[in-house]
Amino acid sequence: MTYQVGLLGLGTVGGGVAQILRDPAGRHPLLRELAIARVGVRDLAKPRAVAFDPQYLTTDLEAIVTDPDIDIVVEVLGGIEPARSLILKAIANGKHIVTANKAVIARHGAEIFDAANAQGVYVMLEAAVAGGIPVIQALKQSLGANRIHTITGILNGTTNYILTRMQQEQGDFAPILADAQRLGYAEADPSADIDGLDAADKIAILASLAFGGRIPRDQVYCEGIRQITAADIAYADKLGFRIKLLAIAHQASDQSLEVRVHPTLVPLDHPLAGVNGVFNAILLEATPLGQVMFSGPGAGAGATASAVVADLINIAALLPQGRASHPLLTCQHEHTVPLLPIAKVNSRFYARVHAQDHPGVLGKLGTCFGAHNVSLESLVQIGVHHELAEIVIVTHHVCEGEFRQAMAEISSMPDIEAVPSIVRVLGG
Ligand code: NAP
Ligand code: HSE
Repeated sequence: MTYQVGLLGLGTVGGGVAQILRDPAGRHPLLRELAIARVGVRDLAKPRAVAFDPQYLTTDLEAIVTDPDIDIVVEVLGGIEPARSLILKAIANGKHIVTANKAVIARHGAEIFDAANAQGVYVMLEAAVAGGIPVIQALKQSLGANRIHTITGILNGTTNYILTRMQQEQGDFAPILADAQRLGYAEADPSADIDGLDAADKIAILASLAFGGRIPRDQVYCEGIRQITAADIAYADKLGFRIKLLAIAHQASDQSLEVRVHPTLVPLDHPLAGVNGVFNAILLEATPLGQVMFSGPGAGAGATASAVVADLINIAALLPQGRASHPLLTCQHEHTVPLLPIAKVNSRFYARVHAQDHPGVLGKLGTCFGAHNVSLESLVQIGVHHELAEIVIVTHHVCEGEFRQAMAEISSMPDIEAVPSIVRVLGG
């Protein structure tokens, strides 16, 4: 039996998928049952790393998703539209879907899965989170015996590359971002990566699988790395931390769920502190398993195509059964899980403050924190910066809303010149 695949996109990921499907020797035998029938692109004249005879290529993507001969549509276009509409149209035409598009799934997953369940087709998305790392399959299947409480991930390779180089070279953000763009890690418009939006899409998808409900993407707290300076990285180093952009989903014992993305000071002995460069990693904490960590390449043609093709194999294995019904591969969530607002989340904080070097300033800071229930781990004047005292504060776990109120009061004190940075701290 041969199943016909319509490939929407022949860029980095689409090219990688085509390469694997055309060279099945030594891979899973089901690959021999998958054939690329049509390929949709924007520009027919563009030179391609993977060559196709012209009759395979088309710019008419609707013709692919409505083609009665096609069984599975692989969407690797990127962006919200036309990807979302094409996925919905393909589902309406009875096609199974494999997508690497976390932006579409995190924001429009509800309508896509509702449509897929009504039509009896699979929507598979292993490649949408952490590229080649098989974390979606693990959450759907292998970890099913567990209650998951916390997911902590480095889910964006571009920002991890930038932060790693800033740490290793004591470099500033802007020139290293420019390098990442030259090397092809960061896109011309890098905001989805560096403002944390890409990681927020991915953690929303993981949280949905781990905690069994739909995650309102607009409630996922999201802060990127633009404001991180070489000075913060150097101070973090002195205090025994690495700064990482972490994506965190945590369900407390009262079932409240927090899902957030922000730069974080990670203790050097934490397993995520040593994940460097473009690598991704996900640490899951579950009962009874305990901690399990996945790490590997989160992007790139081969890694991402590995995940896309794994989904194709799963679908090919189940297609003889007709309608999508395998309970380990369908997504049946119907309720939306409200998220805890960030002001109610408990975190530890690191803050750097520039103050007049006068008697009593440290005391005023301590009193203000005390008045807002903010318990301090340390409050130290570490030096002088342009004739101002440089003060570094590390808190115990505190309520974010109370900490922010204290910092707002501190920022308006006459002795305080600036608060150059506030970063959350993991653990403790
Ligand atoms: P890419 O290299 O930019 O390729 C996109 C492909 O889609 C191109 O072939 C492009 O056609 C085609 N395309 C885009 N918009 C189109 C439109 N409106 N009409 C027709 N064709 C269109 O993107 P990519 O890096 O492969 O990423 C694809 C998806 O995978 C994205 O959702 C991305 O987030 C996800 N992903 C990527 C990676 C990675 O490492 N790159 C990792 C994980 C997930 P032309 O070639 O003619 O321009
Ligand atoms: N832009 C993403 C990253 C790769 O830098 O990790 C695609 O998910």
